[in-house]
Amino acid sequence: MSVAKKDYKKITVQSLTEMKANGEKISMLTAYDFTMARIVDQSKVDVILVGDSASNVMAGHETTLPITLDQMIYHASSVVRAVSRALVVVDIPFGSYQSDPKEALRSAIRIMKESGGHAVKLEGGEEIKESVKRILNAGIPVMGHLGLTPQSIYKFGTYTVRAKEEEEADKLIEDALLLERLGCFAIVLEKIPATLAAKVAVQLTIPIIGIGAGGGVDGQVLVIHDLLGMTKEFSPRFLRRYMDLYHGMTEAIGSYVKDVKEGDFPNEQEQY
Ligand code: KIV
Repeated sequence: MSVAKKDYKKITVQSLTEMKANGEKISMLTAYDFTMARIVDQSKVDVILVGDSASNVMAGHETTLPITLDQMIYHASSVVRAVSRALVVVDIPFGSYQSDPKEALRSAIRIMKESGGHAVKLEGGEEIKESVKRILNAGIPVMGHLGLTPQSIYKFGTYTVRAKEEEEADKLIEDALLLERLGCFAIVLEKIPATLAAKVAVQLTIPIIGIGAGGGVDGQVLVIHDLLGMTKEFSPRFLRRYMDLYHGMTEAIGSYVKDVKEGDFPNEQEQY
């Protein structure tokens, strides 16, 4: 089935609701810096996520836990300066919203004020509902995140598929319904069975964006470095690599090193 695409000048949370209503899939990718964000935005990606995966991808940490609010604001403000079309969603990092709703609101306000991002994302359902309410009451759009929530990795113990058992699947559906009732504009579902994700997408009117959650949802998100093949150790089943930049870049840089060593760079035309 071909879906007529409306040309949105600037993507808003309302455009995403409209896309779901019109059956148009939503594209979302991460970006953490100005140069990458400009390329992603000009490629007409609908939503740019300044994910706390910056902790892994940009800083080399094993988990998303160490990244700080100040660091997220630095990444987000670099991205916002590059973007003219996409909606920019910024992760509130671990430790900046779990302890109490007032702290959650303070963190969300800092992100909005200091980075210029358009919305925030938090991980969890029932357990963070007071924080979600408080942030929404301040007029800040909230995206939810359920399923595999990497900020809770030490509770899960592994990055394996979540909600395979009925009890966890039921809780996930309850949480998704709750987040919609509270007023979240979209929810990310990470690494859960495709049938469960599709069921949630049908039950909710807000868009469901999947990562490792199958094709029956309203949109997809990937980490840009994974899509471009810049990270080589990470290869879950859900990842489609569109390039092999790791090797492409290694070759290009290797050629530069060789040219410098051999005195081939710079040549006559490359100097003043
Ligand atoms: O931080 C991130 O990149 C994310 C996506 C995996 C959804 O939360």
